Amino acid sequence: MSHRSAAGLYDALHTFESRYRKGNSYPVHKRLVFDDASIHDVYDWIIAEVGLPDDGTILDAGCGVGFGTIRMAEQCSGRVRGISISPAEIATARRSAVNSPARTRVAFELADFEALPANSYDLIVAVESLKHSEDLPTTLETMAAALRQGGQLVIVEDCYSGAHDNTDAAELIANWGLARLFSEADYIAGSNATATRVVDLDRYVRTAGPLTRARRRIASGLRRFLGRVVDPRVAAAFAGGAYLDRLYDAGHMHYKAIFVATPGGMERP
Ligand SMILES: C[S@@+](CC[C@H](N)C(=O)[O-])C[C@H]1O[C@@H](n2cnc3c(N)ncnc32)[C@H](O)[C@@H]1O
Repeated sequence: MSHRSAAGLYDALHTFESRYRKGNSYPVHKRLVFDDASIHDVYDWIIAEVGLPDDGTILDAGCGVGFGTIRMAEQCSGRVRGISISPAEIATARRSAVNSPARTRVAFELADFEALPANSYDLIVAVESLKHSEDLPTTLETMAAALRQGGQLVIVEDCYSGAHDNTDAAELIANWGLARLFSEADYIAGSNATATRVVDLDRYVRTAGPLTRARRRIASGLRRFLGRVVDPRVAAAFAGGAYLDRLYDAGHMHYKAIFVATPGGMERP
C-alpha cells in the first residue's frame, strides 16, 4: 500500500469509528481473551512477556489512536513514542494523552516506521502494523538499526500460511491495499535477528460473534453494499476484515507474537 493510501484508509476508518465508540482511545487490533484475568489486551500481554525498560525509550510503531502507547507509558517510567501515518489517529492519540498520568513521558508523531532514527529505542512494539509495509525486509532492517544494544522488537501480526493463488488472500490484499501477505518466515527472515522467539496467539483470538459470522458469509458483497452508504475506504476496510476472518477460519492465517532481539536483549527462553 502506498503510504498515502494507508494513511487515507486509517483516517477514514478512524473518522467512521469515532462516531460510534465512546472515548478517544481504543485498540485498533483484534479482540483477544487471555486465560490470565489480569491481562485484558495484547499490549498487557506484551508488557507481561517482555517487561518494560524503566529508563529507556519505547516506540509503538503504527500506534493507531494510542491505546497501547499510553498503556505502556502508564506501566513504566521511561519515555514512549507512538507513530502513525494517519493524521486523524495522531490527533486523537494526542487528545487522549492529555488525561494520562504519564502525559509528560508519552509523545505522538505523524511519522513513517520505514524511516526511523538509528540506535534510538530499547523496545519497539509493532501490533498489526507491519502488514502494511511495502518492503518488509527494508522495514525490518530499519527497525533493527533503530534498536539500541540489548534492545528488542516485538511484532504481533496475522501471519499467512496459505497458497499464493488463494482468492480470499487476493481479496484481502486488494481491499486493504497491501503489497502482499507476509508469513511468519518473512517476519523472521527479514529481521536480521540474533534471537527469535515465536508465540502462537491463535487460542486467544475471538472472531466468532454472530455479526462477524454473517460478515464472513457475505464478504464478497460487503464492499459493494457498504460502499453505497459509507466512505468507500471504510467499506474496503470492513470487507478486508471479512476476508481476513475467512482466512483464519480456513486455517491459512495465524496470530503470532515474534520477539526479535539485538545481542544481550532476550533473557527469556
Ligand atoms: C491495525 S492498526 C494497529 C494500531 C495499534 N497498533 C493497535 O493495535 O491498536 C495499524 C496501524 O499501523 C499504522 N501504519 C501503517 N503503515 C504505517 C507506516 N508506514 N508508518 C507508521 N504507521 C503505519 C496505521 O496508521 C495504524 O495506526
